[in-house]
Amino acid sequence: MNDWIQDELAKITEAGLLRQTRAVTAIGHGTITMDGRDLIDFASNDYLGLSHREELTKAAAEAAKRWGCGSRASRLMSGSIGLLHRLEQAVAEFQGTEAALCLGNGYLANCTIIPAIARRGDAIFLDRLCHASIIDGVLLSGAIFFRFAHNDAAQLEQLLRENRHLYRRALVIAETVYSMDGDMAPVERLMALRQEFNTMLMLDEAHAIGIFGEHAEGIIPRHQERKPDILIGTFGKALGSYGAFAACDRNMKRFLQNRCRGFIFSTALPPPVAAANLAALELLESTGGERHRVLDLAADLRDFIEARLGKATSGSSQIVPLILDNVQKTLDLERYLADADIFARAIRPPTVPGNTPRIRFSITADHNDQDIERLKAVLLSFFKT
Ligand SMILES: Cc1ncc(COP(=O)(O)O)c(C=O)c1O
Repeated sequence: MNDWIQDELAKITEAGLLRQTRAVTAIGHGTITMDGRDLIDFASNDYLGLSHREELTKAAAEAAKRWGCGSRASRLMSGSIGLLHRLEQAVAEFQGTEAALCLGNGYLANCTIIPAIARRGDAIFLDRLCHASIIDGVLLSGAIFFRFAHNDAAQLEQLLRENRHLYRRALVIAETVYSMDGDMAPVERLMALRQEFNTMLMLDEAHAIGIFGEHAEGIIPRHQERKPDILIGTFGKALGSYGAFAACDRNMKRFLQNRCRGFIFSTALPPPVAAANLAALELLESTGGERHRVLDLAADLRDFIEARLGKATSGSSQIVPLILDNVQKTLDLERYLADADIFARAIRPPTVPGNTPRIRFSITADHNDQDIERLKAVLLSFFKT
């Protein structure tokens, strides 16, 4: 009866697009252990290496003892433990917003906040390379949507000029640092367009928090008075833990508590996770050295890819893509790197546009100069052969 699944899987496999999970037996400190081998890990979003820090593991263990492993219910039922209120207060202070609301993870946040604030009769304008969770939220909302070319504020302006007046409310969505390209949104232009065309603005800082900003708060400065209407952050990347938040004003928070289905109908973050999140936020202020080193290593790798390999890359963040034009070649490179004990993933369509498969290198505080030099040597030998 379910032969179609077999057929679909065969098609995915034939196109070189089959995805599978592999069991990892150890992780952390810049390496990943699989099939009994240690590989240098360039595929982790634990950008500051916080996931193994004692401050986090200890806080999580203590919270598990005090509150238990699970939060037992959604926040509106009985899961709204004091720890989460403290965490939200800390997030709001960290981001410089009036309030913050925690959610289960970034996917859930984007997928359920967007339909809470935009509906049929509204219009959403989003960057063409926005994350799948944003796209899914937009589709769920029932609003009409317009996608502008990646980081093209001029095209966004034109779309707003032509269409904004036809709809009740409008929402512009972008990421501040793009997860697969490592480049940044034209944030100031987006803020200005929001003002000019009376739109809401939602920015996803998932890959910027922890690395950018004077206090590691991301691209939107804590002290900046006018903030986006919603600023999404995740705890699962540079903060080394799990979960997400929306930083916003008090009214928006109250509204989301009443209208965001991912908040209302989902179990609250578990206490050990909330405690680790809080510990990670407290640690961030002291990670200035790590942040700069990560960006320096990434810049070095990016220069190498362009100058020595003559290949395309993009951005100026800790995420360094090596963009190829062929899925098979990208998979070959993934395997070649793995054979040389380097773990970096091939990113294929539909995660990225069809003609831009890539290897995504994610530089973290657990890497050092030798790791980067080793990676460069292996890349050179691949492209020479
Ligand atoms: C920009 C962006 N937003 C949201 C998410 C989802 O966050 P989470 O992994 O917490 O579900 C991701 C994950 O990669 C992301 O890149």
